[in-house]
Amino acid sequence: MRYAVVNRGSIREEIFTSRAVIDAVKAGRPLPNGTVITLVDYRDGALFRYVVMEKRTGWGAGYPPEKRNGEWEYQAFNADQSVNQDENLDRCFSCHKPRGGRTSCTRSTG
Ligand code: HEC
Repeated sequence: MRYAVVNRGSIREEIFTSRAVIDAVKAGRPLPNGTVITLVDYRDGALFRYVVMEKRTGWGAGYPPEKRNGEWEYQAFNADQSVNQDENLDRCFSCHKPRGGRTSCTRSTG
């Protein structure tokens, strides 16, 4: 279900996740194993791409500590839902790690 919409100039972000995740956030609990959060990125009203993050127990263990983001993995998809092979996923990790909220996915990735 949709839990947030962000409008930023010609960019519109719609963010979706499951009821269980929303309940966990409201209750202040850690996000459950299998959490998937999808950000749908629209430009000038047209579907542009998807960025997705997913948390699974044990994920991330193979990354060095300076890259690791807890148990989160990241992926970017094109508007036709194919994987965007051109996306540098290191950027997702490095920006989401401190999570200061100074900028956003869409502003930086053009
Ligand atoms: C320059 C920093 C930056 C980069 C790079 C970045 N993000 Fe984000 N991301 C953010 C911020 C800040 C938010 C908070 C919501 C927003 O975008 O307004 C966010 C939100 C999200 C969300 C929605 C859930 C939430 O926690 O708000 C997802 C999913 C996501 N990002 C995935 C990705 C993926 C996948 C990539 C790489 C392809 C990526 N991000 C790259 C900064 C970034």
